[in-house]
Amino acid sequence: MFHVVSHPAPPIRTTRPEAERVASLISRLKRHPQVDPTRIGVVRAPLRICPLGAHIDHQLGRVTGMTIDQSILLAFAPTTDASVYVESFNFEPAVAFSLDHVPAYTPRDWGNYIRGAVLALQQTHRLQHGLVGVVDGEMPIGGLSSSAAVTIAYLLALEAVNHLEEPPENNVALVRFTENQYIGLNNGILDQSVILFSEREHLTSIDCQTLEVDRIPGPQPNGTFEILVVYSGLTRVLVGTDYNNRVAECQEAAGLLLSYNGQPNQEDARLRHVHPDTFMAEGQRLPLNLKRRASHYFGEMQRVQDGITAWRDGDLGRFGALMSESGHSSINNYECGSPQLITLYETLRDTPGVYGTRFSGAGFRGNCLALIDPSARETIAEAIHRRYPAAHPDEASAYSIHFCQPDGQAQICVES
Ligand code: GLA
Repeated sequence: MFHVVSHPAPPIRTTRPEAERVASLISRLKRHPQVDPTRIGVVRAPLRICPLGAHIDHQLGRVTGMTIDQSILLAFAPTTDASVYVESFNFEPAVAFSLDHVPAYTPRDWGNYIRGAVLALQQTHRLQHGLVGVVDGEMPIGGLSSSAAVTIAYLLALEAVNHLEEPPENNVALVRFTENQYIGLNNGILDQSVILFSEREHLTSIDCQTLEVDRIPGPQPNGTFEILVVYSGLTRVLVGTDYNNRVAECQEAAGLLLSYNGQPNQEDARLRHVHPDTFMAEGQRLPLNLKRRASHYFGEMQRVQDGITAWRDGDLGRFGALMSESGHSSINNYECGSPQLITLYETLRDTPGVYGTRFSGAGFRGNCLALIDPSARETIAEAIHRRYPAAHPDEASAYSIHFCQPDGQAQICVES
């Protein structure tokens, strides 16, 4: 269940029950003349959090994640020709194109994700059918991987209407193509892997080098822990932030460390190619900014390993402490965040009932996340309301607080 705590301030945005959202999407879809009402499907792609393993997927590190009970929903039906037409409850205008002529990437256009998904599939398939779709997402954007979730929704729908059966591993690669090649974001595979592989009541761990996925059963939510997401009021797409610069800095650090150690400098060096002992021995030779990025990587790899042990042991206190250390390293070593996200992080870190907290996702915008003791909900919300709008009056009417539960993987939930 999803709850929003209200307070004197007006920052609350509620989301509607999912069945109601599905009904609205289907009713909008049926208005389209090309839609055969007997062939409507709905994809549900949940959003994700990454409690440990931040900013290391693009360096082939090991990451952790969970989905939450907030999702992108896409109702769709096949077209009998090559046309694609998608509307959104959140963005204008509708996107329309033919499978035979997929338009080029357009900055800040929500249509990039369906176009990228089509191009990704067309690398290896001749698609026979386009689709008509209506999409909806209700959570504030930023750090919860709505981009990966919507791309997965499009991929699953396009695969369904074209009778293709792609295993999740292939869909991981297809999302990667969309983001890296079409959109130009040099990110890793954290987001789509968590959304495609999550299982309820498990922490998912992905080794971004070997692509090995582990699902670790853990403390039961609903009573033991809950996921808190606090939206800062700031939304910005990742292309155009420092995201790609950080990836390049990590790669430069990797190349230098390999060369300090007398190893051949691979063209596409990543920090995973560097042994931790090499960083211990040679790290001080790096320029300060690169040393910080590498410190974040090696520290985060250790925290992921320790966090998985803590999770297995049911030790939420230890797991949470590692999350907050990870948040500290994101601010000080990875140097991301914004004053707003830092205030949220510090407020949550200092509030009783919070096991651990860090920025969600890339940390340049969007949301801060925490694992909390559900019985402390009210006091945690009060602490945020007390500190956040006073520190950031410009965001006073835009921020919001969301209590979520862990969820499962993306899938087609209505099929006809
Ligand atoms: C964004 C990116 C991911 C990952 C996270 C930070 O969500 O899309 O690939 O790098 O930031 O961990």
